[in-house]
Amino acid sequence: MTSRRLVLTRSAALFGAASTGLYLPQLANAQAAKLKVGLMLPYTGTYAQLGVAIENGFRMAINEQGGKLGGREIEFFKVDDESDPSKAIENASKLVQRDKVDVLVGTVHSGVQMGIQKVARDSGVLCLIPNAGVNTATRALCAPNVFRTSFSNAQATQALGKVMAERGVKKTVWISWKYAAGDESFEGFKQSYTAGGGNIIKELSLPFPQVEFQALLTEIAALKPDAVACFFAGGGAAKFIRDYAAAGLKDKIPLYGSGFLTEGVLDAAGPAANGITTALHYSDALATPRNTQFRLAYAKNFRTQPDVYAVQGYDTGLLLIHGANAVKGDLSSKPALYKAMETATIDSPRGKWTMSPAHNPVQDIYLRVVEKNENKVIGIAAKALADSGAGCKMV
Ligand code: PHB
Repeated sequence: MTSRRLVLTRSAALFGAASTGLYLPQLANAQAAKLKVGLMLPYTGTYAQLGVAIENGFRMAINEQGGKLGGREIEFFKVDDESDPSKAIENASKLVQRDKVDVLVGTVHSGVQMGIQKVARDSGVLCLIPNAGVNTATRALCAPNVFRTSFSNAQATQALGKVMAERGVKKTVWISWKYAAGDESFEGFKQSYTAGGGNIIKELSLPFPQVEFQALLTEIAALKPDAVACFFAGGGAAKFIRDYAAAGLKDKIPLYGSGFLTEGVLDAAGPAANGITTALHYSDALATPRNTQFRLAYAKNFRTQPDVYAVQGYDTGLLLIHGANAVKGDLSSKPALYKAMETATIDSPRGKWTMSPAHNPVQDIYLRVVEKNENKVIGIAAKALADSGAGCKMV
């Protein structure tokens, strides 16, 4: 009796809808449904601030276009990945299999990115990397559906090593966290610095995200290098800068780094950061109309100053908008979507950039020095720098 009533009710509903002419178009037009955007970012731990800045920038880009993507409303799904590689596949699968997102934006940590990369390659879901630099994501493990809007780990330090060698810095100690981002930053540094005649006298490291730097700083003092070069980021970077100064090294041994060291941490680090020289694809002090306008709008929206992570999130939004507009919101039109994203020129606050064939930004790397709570630009460390993309075969 119940099932018969149900059948009757259903067919009446279908008949009613069909007779008004609404039924077929509504079901057929999948594009009318909301576009599902998954954000997989760290919202806790040493990279928490980075995740928030990326989300802010991403949302701001989309809100500037009326809050839609290719004419479609958006529904957001969020996961805190905790910068924990052991949970990465499970977290990415939640967004892709359970929530069925149309696009996955993530993440910050290179180890977690490896899990996302696997899920992206297995499922074919569109994946935009707003930070994590793990080289292989746009080298041997590249994929047509994965685009990076940030950098590869070797990019900034390759530019840094060249500058340090040119400056005549002879003996350097390298220090970083022991995981892909630290290791690959070191590789980029080593390649250009040693090619320029520099000598790396010691490579020091500690596990991510530890911040007990004391013993390592004592070792640096004993080694007496001409300079120290490093990769640290987020909360750990602020502590490293403070501890370096507190150990009495600041005025004795110049500190260099990939520019993440001084991003989003200048308030927390205070005067201890003055004089640190870094290389990065952005600087808060870039005096271009585009950057000025971006910084004012971001500060107004979020009551805080943007950093490189906010820019990368913003550019992820710009790239997605460009792709979604090209296919009028139908992200299942993959060849047209990928083509549009591959050929985009992103008018970023960092300066205009394009995609390499392996889907990594081709971009300028700025040389910066911290002065009065700002990363002042003192030159271009590398012009239109592309990652090698070694081993990338798009299939
Ligand atoms: C990374 O793990 O790839 C990573 C994290 C933070 C950064 C840069 C790279 O600032």
